[in-house]
Amino acid sequence: MAQRTKQPASKGRQSSLPAIYVLNGPNLNLLGQRQPEIYGRDTLADVERLCRQAGEKLGLGIVFRQSNHEGELVDWIQEARSKAVGIVINAGAYTHTSVALLDALSAAEKPVIEVHLSNIFRRENFRHHSYISMAAKGVICGFGPKGYVLALEALAEIV
Ligand code: DQA
Repeated sequence: MAQRTKQPASKGRQSSLPAIYVLNGPNLNLLGQRQPEIYGRDTLADVERLCRQAGEKLGLGIVFRQSNHEGELVDWIQEARSKAVGIVINAGAYTHTSVALLDALSAAEKPVIEVHLSNIFRRENFRHHSYISMAAKGVICGFGPKGYVLALEALAEIV
């Protein structure tokens, strides 16, 4: 089941601030329980909190979502075309497999920052290639949840 964070209180505020879509791919809903020796103990809710704090500091509205489904991620990237000024994406394993996400991100014509919690270059060979990097302004990996904050800071300078 996709996680769409309900933020009714921030709805009005979001419309006045430039929005960044922070999109998370498969299995990231298990953050905190899943292979903590690689991904750490922080949950996705902790990551979301960090992003919202950073968004407040930077004057950016944060739309934070997670899905285990490739097509749903494509739909959200298409939505970001008209609603966002930039995209932060941790596509999880789809990073290494998905031409559909690459095409959607290329079509979005927005600055994209690719994030990975782990340093994918210290891991298995199949994780060394990312399809989506071709559509990204930059890639941040290996810094855990802080990578999302670094990505938002980078986007704040770009947009
Ligand atoms: C990940 C790295 C991917 O290789 C992996 O499939 C993930 C998480 C990361 O954040 O380190 O699901 O994107």
